[in-house]
Order: sequence, then structure tokens, then C-alpha cells
Amino acid sequence: MSDPQAPRLLRALAGETLERPPVWFMRQAGRYLPEYWELRAKAGDFVSLAMNPEMAAEVTLQPMRRFPFDAAIVFADILLIPHALGQKLWFEAGEGPRLGPLPAVAALADQVEASTERLAPIAETLARVRAELEPERALIGFAGGPWTVATYMIEGRGSKREAARAFAYAHPDELDALLDVLVEATARYLVMQARAGAQALKIFESWCENLAEDVFERIVVRPHAAIVEKVRAAGVTAPFIGFPRGAGALVESYAEAAPVEAVALDTQASAALGRRLQAQGKTIQGALDNLLLREGGPAMDARVAQLLAQWGDGPYIFNLGHGVLPDTPIEHIARVVERVTGNRVKAAA
Ligand code: CP3
Repeated sequence: MSDPQAPRLLRALAGETLERPPVWFMRQAGRYLPEYWELRAKAGDFVSLAMNPEMAAEVTLQPMRRFPFDAAIVFADILLIPHALGQKLWFEAGEGPRLGPLPAVAALADQVEASTERLAPIAETLARVRAELEPERALIGFAGGPWTVATYMIEGRGSKREAARAFAYAHPDELDALLDVLVEATARYLVMQARAGAQALKIFESWCENLAEDVFERIVVRPHAAIVEKVRAAGVTAPFIGFPRGAGALVESYAEAAPVEAVALDTQASAALGRRLQAQGKTIQGALDNLLLREGGPAMDARVAQLLAQWGDGPYIFNLGHGVLPDTPIEHIARVVERVTGNRVKAAA
């Protein structure tokens, strides 16, 4: 049994089944909130906002003021690592991230130590948020999964990832070398985040679709295991949430082989799959469809009730299957949080 005074999120991550699950949402900070756009306009661009601790802390706290979420997630991005390793990064308005040409892996490897120093503003953001956040609300740090980050580095933008998957087959040694660099940079970055105040660490592996079992093992499971081992070797005990989005039937082999405390499930995860993971000692997180959150109505209410009923008898964290969409009505979020927590939530305009 974990400490009854510990934040609800950490109790669930320690394997406890609570009378109601903790709740937070992926992408709970950001574009659906008018106050986000105000600060974003002041910062100029997304990267400047993420690298400004005072503003990034404010953006992290914005949703915490509106909703009784049990956890905050630091405002940053998975692509700050390639940026810190020396690959140019910018965001095209209305489109998404763009990266400059992929540097040679040896050149990236030379920048690993410096990359952690360049990411020091994120540690300062975490320290600022931890100082302001109520003790019963946990603070989550995160990084991208090496494969997902590599897909953006290889393709230079979001896509169907066919070029990255082809690269994995055509240049396996180069991909492995790139993943090794990312594992090292990511582990160092997460250690820094934990030391700065992150109480749980999440690995966002957003692009696991269409990977054959052996490839998935090599480019997703093994790098995640290496990250967790390196972070543990540095003395950090914060629990890990692994999110192998799109892994489908391979989620179970992920849960068996990756030494994470919790597995975040995507929208299509079955009730039975989640229960099997819980029975194996994993905490699970998920998995309300972000589109259903946007649409709202009786179907949303019914799905929230179903998720609570199907997974609430084991260690469970209520969340989405993927991040909040920018055009999501604020009242829908208030309604879901209210239904999970049992507390009335006022959705101020
Ligand atoms: O509230 C939070 O969840 C914390 C902040 C956070 C952001 N990105 C802020 C952001 C987190 C956890 C991420 C993770 C992230 N970033 C992932 C993994 C999760 C996922 O959604 O799959 C990925 C793949 C990225 C890469 C990325 N960053 C993309 C594809 C985009 C553009 C399109 C989009 O979905 O937002 C971004 C930009 C980004 N990251 C914004 C925010 C608030 C929008 C930037 C803006 O225009 O202001």
C-alpha cells in the first residue's frame, strides 16, 4: 500500500486501486484555451514559449486553474531533443513541426551532453510549477520515444511515416545508432526533469503503427528499456508511464518487456486487454477518444461511465487515447472531469 498522503496519481502508479481514479489529459495545456493563445502571441513562436520557463510554467498551470486535474504535465515538446542536438526545428502555422536536414549521427552524438544543458530551461519550468502546484497534485515530466522522435528527424515533418519505416529497413545500423543517441540524450533529459521536480515520467511513443513484432521489439521496446535502466542507474525512482500508441496487439509484449510502471492505452484498447495488464501488475491509463471528447453528448457520457466500470476495479488513471484537439469545447472537458471526480466543475468561458 502506498502512502495515503501521496498525490492520487502517484498512488495509482504505485499499483493502488483508488475509490476513484486520478484524471489528467494529454495536451491539457494548449490550443483549446484562449489564455494559451494570449501567452503564445506574447512569446512569438512555440519554441520560444517552451524555452521560456516563466511563460511555460504559466501555460502548464493554466488548465490546473480551470479543472481539478490530479496531475500537471510540463509544457514542452518531444521535438525539443532534436532541436537541442542541433537539428533545426520550427512550427508552420496551421500545419505542424518542421525539422531541418538530419545531421550525421556522429555529429548528433557529439552534442548529447550539450543537449541536456540546452534543455535546462525545461528543468526550471518544472521547478517553478512544482513550487506553485498544490502538493496533492502531481507533476509529470516527459520525452518522446526514440523511434517517434527519429521519424520526425528522418522525415523532417509529421507524415504517414513510410519514409522512416523504409529507412529502418534500408539503413538498420544507422537507425540503431540514431536510436542509441536518442536513448542517451533522453535518459539524461529525464534525469534532469526528475531532479527538478517531475514526480512521474512519461515516454510518448506516438507512432507504433505498422511495425512487425521483431522491429517493434528492436526500435521501441529495447530503447524504452534502455532509457528506464539508465534513469534508474542515476538513482531516480520516479515511476514511468510508457505510451506505445498504435501498437495494437503488441501492447502486451511491450508491457511484459518494458520496465515501466504504467502503460498508457490508446482509443482502440479493449476492456479485456486493459484488465490483463492490470492483472499482470501494471497500472493502465486511457483511453477516451479525443474526438468523442470534442463531440460530447450522451455518447461521451456513456463511454466515460464504461471506462470507469471496465477498468476502475484495478490500478487505473483516467485519460484520453490521444491528446486534446484544439477545437474541443472547454465545457466537455469540465463535464468529463466532473464525472470522474464526482466534483462539480465550473467551465468558465
Ligand atoms: O499539455 C501537454 O500535454 C504538454 C505539452 C505537450 C506538447 N506536445 C505541446 C505542444 C506534449 C506532451 C507534447 C507531445 C508531443 N509533441 C507528441 C506526443 C504526443 C502526441 O500528440 O502524439 C508529438 C508527436 C509532438 C510533436 C508535435 N508538437 C506536433 C505534431 C505538433 C503540431 C501539431 C499538434 O498536434 O499540436 C506539435 C506542437 C505542439 N506541441 C503544440 C503544443 C501545445 C502546438 C503549438 C502551437 O501551435 O502553439
